[in-house]
Formats: sequence, C-alpha cells, structure tokens
Amino acid sequence: MKILILGGDGYLGWPTAMHLTAQGHNVAVVDNYLRRSLCREENVEPLVDVPNLHQRTASWESTSGYHIPAFIGDLTKWEFVDEVFREFSPEAIIHYAEQPAAPYSMLNRSAATLTLCNNLEVTANVIFAVQQFNPDVHIVKLGTMGEYGTPDIDIEEGWLEVDHKGRHQKFLYPRQAGSLYHTTKIMDTDLLWFYVRTWGLRVTDLMQGPVYGIFTEENRIDENLYPFLNYDELFGTVLNRFVIQAVADYPMTVYGKGGQTRGYLNLMDTLNCVRLSVENPAAKGELRILNQFTETFSVNQLAQKVQRVARSMGFKADISAVENPRKEAEEHYYNPAHTGLLDLGLKPQFLTDKVLAEMIEFAAKHKKAIRPEQIYRKVRWDHNLT
Ligand SMILES: NC(=O)c1ccc[n+]([C@@H]2O[C@H](COP(=O)([O-])OP(=O)(O)OC[C@H]3O[C@@H](n4cnc5c(N)ncnc54)[C@H](O)[C@@H]3O)[C@@H](O)[C@H]2O)c1
Repeated sequence: MKILILGGDGYLGWPTAMHLTAQGHNVAVVDNYLRRSLCREENVEPLVDVPNLHQRTASWESTSGYHIPAFIGDLTKWEFVDEVFREFSPEAIIHYAEQPAAPYSMLNRSAATLTLCNNLEVTANVIFAVQQFNPDVHIVKLGTMGEYGTPDIDIEEGWLEVDHKGRHQKFLYPRQAGSLYHTTKIMDTDLLWFYVRTWGLRVTDLMQGPVYGIFTEENRIDENLYPFLNYDELFGTVLNRFVIQAVADYPMTVYGKGGQTRGYLNLMDTLNCVRLSVENPAAKGELRILNQFTETFSVNQLAQKVQRVARSMGFKADISAVENPRKEAEEHYYNPAHTGLLDLGLKPQFLTDKVLAEMIEFAAKHKKAIRPEQIYRKVRWDHNLT
C-alpha cells in the first residue's frame, strides 16, 4: 500500500516508516521538525543524537535498499498539505504529527496555544485533504488512552451503550482528559467523528498508552536509525525516564502516591498495531476506535520493576516520592478493554526483565550523555499561565 506517515521524524513515526517499508509497503514521511525545535527551545535533548530525516532515510536506504521520500514542511499550512497529497497520493495515512507531550502543553500560555492550534489544524487539514483528493483513503490517527481519563467504571473500546428512560443509543465513551494535550486529542476525535458522519470517511482512532523502548527489528543494525529517547520531564515517557534515572543514580521520580495506573506498550507493539490497522482498514463511514496498549501498571509497579532489574545489574536505583505537580487521581479504579488489536492479530511483547535489562544496558552505554538537570523541572498543572 502507499502509506503517508505524518510526523515521520518522531519517536514513533520514524520506526514505523522503516517497519512498513520492510513489510513491503510504499512509504513517504512528512515532518516540520517541530519536536526538535521545541526541545531546543526548552534546552532538552534525547539521550543519543538523532540524524535529520534526510540523513536517516539515506542510512535506511543504504542498509535495506528501501527508499522513503521525505517532505519537510508544516502540515498546518494548506499549500504544503496540498503539495504533499498531489505528489504522493496515499491510500492510507498514519497521522502522528502533533505536539504529543502533556507537560509541555501545561508549561505556559504559548506552549498551550501552540499545542491547541497545531494539533487541531493538522487534523483538520488531514480531513480536508482526504475529502478533496480521495475520500476512500483510510486515516489512522493516533489518539491516547488519556482521552478516557480514569473513570470509576470499566473503559470500553471507544463506545458506550447507554440505556436511558427506556431508550437505547451508542455514544462515544465519555472522555475527561487530565491535560490540555489530552484534551486536544479528544477534540481530534470529535472532529473525525463529525466528518465520518458527514462525509462518510474511513477512520481508525488508536487510543494509545505510553510507549517505551528504543529497539525495533529494523534499527538494531545501525545506531543512526534509533528514534529519539527523551528522558526529560517535558517530552520523555515514564518508563524510558525511569530507566535513565536508574542509570544516572537519580532517584526515580514517582509522583505522589504512585498509584496512577495506565496501559503501556513496547515500541515494537506500536509498529505492529499501526501496521495491522492499516492492513485491515475501517469501513467507509466507520470511526473504528481501538485501545492500543498491552499491559497495565501503576507508576509504583513500574518503578519497582526498574529497581529490581537495575539493582541486579549493579545500579543503586532508588525510588523517591516527589510532590505531584499534576492534577490527577493518585489511586483509582482502572479496567480498560483492549481486545480489538488482539483480534486483528497483535502478538504482544510484554515488559519482561530481559526487555528492561536491554534498555538499562543501552542507557548505561550512553550514561555520559545524561544531563540530570533535564530530569525534573516540576511543570505544575495548577499555576497561572504566563
Ligand atoms: N509516544 C507515546 O508514548 C504516545 C502515547 C500515546 C499517543 N501518542 C501519540 O502518537 C503520536 C506520535 O507521538 P511521538 O511520541 O512519536 O511524538 P513525536 O513528537 O516524537 O512525533 C510527532 C512528530 O510530528 C511532527 N509534527 C508535529 N506537528 C507537525 C506539523 N504541524 N507539521 C509537520 N510535522 C509535525 C513533530 O516534529 C514530530 O516529529 C502523537 O500524536 C502522540 O500524541 C504517543
């Protein structure tokens, strides 16, 4: 299939591009390096340097023989979107191109506005481009499990059957996000649902949990092919952060009571989930919602797992309960469904000691590059925006 990956320079986008070409698909990537420029502005950087998209596509072509055209530009700009769609004519689109960090979205007024405008404008442009160029194109959009929040009832896959005063209707499952970033994802889902109903588009919205890991089948041969591994509070995801904190002898920063429970998945599972979604498209006029994670853990459980494995490798790996800068339940019920992707054929790769040990080994190899001052800057949820 001809697949256009929006956000192809990102943590998930680049590994997806390599994976899909290795599986025989014809892939192009689009990115404006927003993630890189926000990191530079905030003085944070990934653990290992990541070559730019042209350099990475060249490295991948020389090791694998697969060519990936790269379009560099801003998807909030219609002229650019128009040019990309005219040149590539995709059959499917994987839409990763958003500002993806909750703490960044809560940092200050300009970060909040950027997150809101960027995420919604890109999603709107993707919808408008599909309608204009080929309404049959399947949009695979990355949402987040954070859209559901932590309700005191079981979380279903996207939809809830409601009986009310003797009548019945299926609705989008109620959503109540815990950050502005997560709220933009809810708004994305609403936009997609509106245009699925109005224009009969074909959409899969993947409610993904936090992803961990750096290795994939395609990148082990060449360090130049690794994705970003951020460990700072703004852009790092929790397990990647804990691994690097353990190696840096920086006590793992558990927020508050540490009972916050979420669904997690390995980077390799993300690639398989997205591939399975593309290869088994939603029907025309369908908004298919799949919960994309493989296991649930509390923050305490994650920290304890990292501690146990890191200690067996000679690291101190202390854990420290820090004041929670966020506004969130620290102990709560959490029981989300996640059978849709398993039904499509996903074979999960669980968080084993071996997987953790490999991540710890990688972080240890690059220990000298760790800048501890990046790790915790206490972006508060309850401050006044400036
Ligand atoms: N990483 C996770 O744990 C996780 C979990 C749940 C959902 N998601 C979602 O998955 C998607 C990808 O996440 P990621 O971790 O790879 O983030 P990322 O920041 O590494 O990748 C997103 C990419 O999109 C690009 N981008 C953003 N706005 C753009 C624009 N206007 N024009 C062109 N390119 C633009 C960025 O430069 C970046 O390279 C996001 O939508 C995110 O919300 C990620």
